[in-house]
Amino acid sequence: MRRKVVAGNWKMHKNYSEAVSLVSDLKNELINENLKCDVIVCPPFTFLEAAHTVVKSSEIQLGAQNMHFEEKGAFTGEVSAEMLKSVGCEYVILGHSERRKIFEESDETINKKVRAALAAGLRPIFCIGETLEEREGGKMFDVLGTQLKEGLKEVDAEGMGKIIVAYEPVWAIGTGKTATPDQAEEAHQFVRKTLGEIFDDGVAEKTVIQYGGSVKPNNAAELLAKENIDGALVGGACLEAESFLEIVRAAP
Ligand code: PGA
Repeated sequence: MRRKVVAGNWKMHKNYSEAVSLVSDLKNELINENLKCDVIVCPPFTFLEAAHTVVKSSEIQLGAQNMHFEEKGAFTGEVSAEMLKSVGCEYVILGHSERRKIFEESDETINKKVRAALAAGLRPIFCIGETLEEREGGKMFDVLGTQLKEGLKEVDAEGMGKIIVAYEPVWAIGTGKTATPDQAEEAHQFVRKTLGEIFDDGVAEKTVIQYGGSVKPNNAAELLAKENIDGALVGGACLEAESFLEIVRAAP
């Protein structure tokens, strides 16, 4: 059985003291709880070290929201996988649709990041998803298939064992429009089938596939109950401890 994984993507929100108080609240609330899922928080770079200090004595794990694929060098403004490791990160979100769209990251760039993260011992939360136009134009499976094949190029089965895939339909992100549990399940089945083709069925069965896109306390249980939905990547609803915790506790 795959254990569910709920991750919070804070995006560009909070200041230092708000960040410390959010992670502290999460830690204090979850400290004596027998968690049914893994919990990851992904604050902005500037709060990672402080967040690590808070969560290191808890079961909460830490992730970053992006990184550069080079190990080091003259890349003003960038942060490497090794730097993230050194402040306690275990995960890094890669290929988020905001990175793909606003920052024009290609499948090729994302693939370089995935491989660099794995080489440094970080676990990618590798995001894929179709736009509304692509879905309505009947291209959803093509788009997801290409993002998977290109983004995971030259990743071996061992590397894939470290990767979480997040299916995030672009039309559902930050819009309040969630994919129905059946729509999400259909996409997740396709992702798992494709992973079976790229790797093998054993690898596909073990891969955690999260759903992301307007996951809220009132829809989390229904989504997380689906066979192939192994967790959630939460944006807006992770910014308050109460709503994030409700989603964490909705894991079956
Ligand atoms: P949302 O964001 O929950 O605010 O829709 C999800 C995400 O972008 O990961």
